[in-house]
Amino acid sequence: MGKDTFEEELLERASRAEDILKRYMPAKEGYAATVIEAMNYSLLAGGKRLRPVMMLESYKLFAGADADESVVAPFAAAMEMVHTYSLVHDDLPAMDNDEYRRGRKTTHAVYGAGMATLAGDGLLNLAFETAILGASGGKELTGFDGDTANRYIAALKVFAGKAGIYGMIGGQCADIMAENNSESDNEKMKDILHYIDENKTGALIEASLMVGAILGGATKAQVDLMEKAGSCVGIAFQIQDDILDIVSTSEELGKPVGSDEKNNKTTYVSLYGMEQSKSRVKELSKEAEDILAGLGFEDSFLEGLFEYLIYRKK
Ligand code: IPE
Ligand code: IPE
Ligand code: MG
Ligand code: MG
Ligand code: MG
Repeated sequence: MGKDTFEEELLERASRAEDILKRYMPAKEGYAATVIEAMNYSLLAGGKRLRPVMMLESYKLFAGADADESVVAPFAAAMEMVHTYSLVHDDLPAMDNDEYRRGRKTTHAVYGAGMATLAGDGLLNLAFETAILGASGGKELTGFDGDTANRYIAALKVFAGKAGIYGMIGGQCADIMAENNSESDNEKMKDILHYIDENKTGALIEASLMVGAILGGATKAQVDLMEKAGSCVGIAFQIQDDILDIVSTSEELGKPVGSDEKNNKTTYVSLYGMEQSKSRVKELSKEAEDILAGLGFEDSFLEGLFEYLIYRKK
């Protein structure tokens, strides 16, 4: 697929993911209307929708192109809710303290820090309500050869685990602890940075690929390979984010540049320099593409997406 055709296809899939998301968004009503408004404000601010796009595609690769999308749709919406909540909280004054996200004012800049905290909490809960509803009301699936035969339970377990302290939240914790890096042992700091990137960003990307695969009928061994591919792509994605924080513009990104320097963050660029960061993004993306090829998915849309992430400008 040529570059232009790929980008058109990606936009189309992102818009499809957004349509799915809209189906599960809460109605603004009652005495909780303000928090619901803040949730919808952040959900609908735009965003590339990469995680649901990845999940839907991973599902299709295993289940077949004409498989029933309603099996995975609630999980795809739930993933974007968790991702969005992570951004709302990440921007809070007590965290990265940023004023712009997805091309507009951050949730706390519009609704205040208290309401933004609640909006993030609300999105996290709604994500699980949505995924559980999908799992309990979805069609019957064949068994899973992992630690449960029930594919829905297996998917929920991955989803919950990767969003939590053994995943995204764990990574965000280490990210905060590594501000103003006072670690004198450089090797240890590199190890911590690997943990940060693999968890704060890698975990939700791994989960997106894994949940799609599990629901699509993959074996445990195949799901493990998708996890590994997700980890490579996730780390590459965060390194690229760190690079863009330096070389891009806020107009292009829809969020402030220079946020990492402002907060004295430890990033791949701060530890390894710009050139090594760029080559690491390529290496990791290639590694992920090789894993896909090993699974028989070379030339898939997903492979194109992994390749695209290396050159992404936003
Ligand atoms: C931003 O993620 C946060 C990181 C994990 C680097 P995205 O770049 O996917 O943000 P949106 O969803 O497009 O706004
Ligand atoms: C955040 O990393 C990753 C999350 C889990 C939200 P960053 O702090 O670098 O993300 P941006 O640059 O604000 O999007
Ligand atoms: Mg952050
Ligand atoms: Mg941030
Ligand atoms: Mg960043």
